[in-house]
Amino acid sequence: MDAHLKKLIDAYENSDKIFHATKYWDAYKQEILKELSSLDLKTFRSGKHPVFQTFGFNETRKWKLTRFKPRLLATAAVIKGTLFQGWALHPYSISYEDVQSIAYRHCKYYGEHCDALPISSLEVSTVGSPADYFKIEGKGYTMQFLGFYIRYAFVQQQLRFKGDEVIVELGSGSGHQVEILKKLYPGMTILCFDLPAQLYLCEKYLTEALGQDQVVSSDETVNWNTLDKVEKGKVHFFGNWQMPMVKGFDHDLFWNAASFGEMEPNVVQNYLSYVKENAKHVYLLQAKNGKEVTRVENPITFEDYNNWLSGFKLIASQDAYRAHMRMKETGGYFEAVWKKG
Ligand SMILES: C[S@@+](CC[C@H](N)C(=O)[O-])C[C@H]1O[C@@H](n2cnc3c(N)ncnc32)[C@H](O)[C@@H]1O
Repeated sequence: MDAHLKKLIDAYENSDKIFHATKYWDAYKQEILKELSSLDLKTFRSGKHPVFQTFGFNETRKWKLTRFKPRLLATAAVIKGTLFQGWALHPYSISYEDVQSIAYRHCKYYGEHCDALPISSLEVSTVGSPADYFKIEGKGYTMQFLGFYIRYAFVQQQLRFKGDEVIVELGSGSGHQVEILKKLYPGMTILCFDLPAQLYLCEKYLTEALGQDQVVSSDETVNWNTLDKVEKGKVHFFGNWQMPMVKGFDHDLFWNAASFGEMEPNVVQNYLSYVKENAKHVYLLQAKNGKEVTRVENPITFEDYNNWLSGFKLIASQDAYRAHMRMKETGGYFEAVWKKG
């Protein structure tokens, strides 16, 4: 195993149990580590490591056959393999290109509505050869990346970024959200916290996507006990077990998307205890009614988050959308911003 990754895993294993992955994420641990052992930075977004899709490198044009009854699966597989390459899909004779174009227009008009910097000023990095890469108006995107733009636009509508904000993100996953924020606002200071393997891959990706001079590696920060050495305007990587350092650290926004809902309530409340004093705003995007009980022990609902964020005022909430569809899994997702005071 790479020495950098090993250092992170050792520090994680030696940390308090409250920082260890709960049921949902523990299930993926071995598989993610196994895939990392054969990591090829040139192709890791091509779909050959499906487990990376669980934390945001979901950039293939995969067909979801799960909605078909089992006896229809074989037929569907044949149809998929033969008829649909380049053919129009039902309903409404919609093609891949139509979906991409509609998603792009959603970003364009929603961005304008939210007074966000335009989607046309951005493009996704091609590091790792994303399978779902397409170009619109000369710029490259993936559907996943466009979805992260929608989240940014919603937050921008509430916060009106100046460009020098300090953001703490827990559970950064692929790092696409950070990629968008840093490409749009180079002066932002961003602290990414995550489980060791996810953090390692996120760092590899963002180092390539943004440039070495934009990042402070977890290889260096793994030994930090305070945030005194944070460098203005850079992206920093930290293990999730280092979150206690955030207590007492002033930041404009704490960000957690599709992550708290996959933990247990005591774990989430512990993380919130580090940010509640010094975060000016909190952005959450989570399953409204909590994840399935088969995957978590105790689902967390919107009301739980709202109660735990005492001292904050809910300033905006809505159903969460990707660029091409509503986030309708597990009964739907919300996204919301709370403001201190
Ligand atoms: C579904 S991914 C979401 C990633 C990204 N925020 C997004 O929206 O695509 C869940 C993220 O939460 C992180 N996570 C899960 N359990 C965690 C824990 N106990 N502590 C910190 N992070 C955790 C995972 O490593 C992963 O990055």
